[in-house]
Amino acid sequence: MPNGVKNTLIIGATSAIAAELSVECAARGERLFLVGRDPVKLQKVAGAAGAAVVGVAAADFRELEQGTALVAQAQAALGSIDSVFIAHGLLPDQEETERSFAAAEEAFVVNLLSVVSFVIPLANLFESQRRGSLVVIGSVAGDRGRPRNYTYGAAKGGLAIYLQGVRSRLASSGVRVVTIRLGPVDTPMTRSHRKNALFAQPGAVAKTIALAREHGPDDVYVPWFWAPIMLGVRSLPEALFQRLRFLSGR
Ligand SMILES: NC(=O)c1ccc[n+]([C@@H]2O[C@H](COP(=O)([O-])OP(=O)(O)OC[C@H]3O[C@@H](n4cnc5c(N)ncnc54)[C@H](OP(=O)(O)O)[C@@H]3O)[C@@H](O)[C@H]2O)c1
Repeated sequence: MPNGVKNTLIIGATSAIAAELSVECAARGERLFLVGRDPVKLQKVAGAAGAAVVGVAAADFRELEQGTALVAQAQAALGSIDSVFIAHGLLPDQEETERSFAAAEEAFVVNLLSVVSFVIPLANLFESQRRGSLVVIGSVAGDRGRPRNYTYGAAKGGLAIYLQGVRSRLASSGVRVVTIRLGPVDTPMTRSHRKNALFAQPGAVAKTIALAREHGPDDVYVPWFWAPIMLGVRSLPEALFQRLRFLSGR
């Protein structure tokens, strides 16, 4: 078993990437507790991971007060929690979030606040047990505000800053906090997007994320080639950025 990980909680387990992660962790001999919104999909993901799954819980994460109770439920089922993946997310219609505050609010609630609702009890648990690894899937969209997706990007960017703080807070407690800055992946989230060579596949991404839990940088681009690409994108002066329509267009 890698790094002494026995008991793993997967939040947002019905995401295409988390479903692959569940199978990956099961193959590594880990016991799993899966939390997701859709009970039917959850059973399907649990079925694919087999006997490794000791329990599941269904919840809509917009109901923010449930975070602490769901973590307690997972801890009771697993006995203890060694590692956590947080994988849910919502890519909204950007223009809808510009017309409707409710749409923008939902994007922030799902992508940022609901994650915080889980991270608070998990960080306190890991701090008290002086071990644990917390892996959260963010996005390259959080690196720079772009007209195409800045509401989603702002939520993911805020999340990266939040996790940076948690990471430093818990460093002396032996707790590993990993931010995954994920590039485009061919999943239901990007169903309507035109695919190009930069799109990754969920199975390959899940394998890389599982490895990132144990080794390497704790703030990492997946796939790796997004690191130099985003360095360039972040470094462009605003006036130049706005002239480059492939970056700053819709
Ligand atoms: N695909 C990409 O190109 C890409 C790029 C960068 C980052 N990411 C991030 O990668 C992670 C995994 O996404 P994915 O690509 O695997 O997409 P996905 O298959 O569409 O999964 C999204 C997941 O979020 C869950 N979710 C959305 N709203 C929720 C809510 N209110 N309550 C509970 N769960 C909710 C969905 O639940 P249901 O199953 O019930 O719908 C689904 O499990 C997300 O954090 C996403 O932001 C994805």
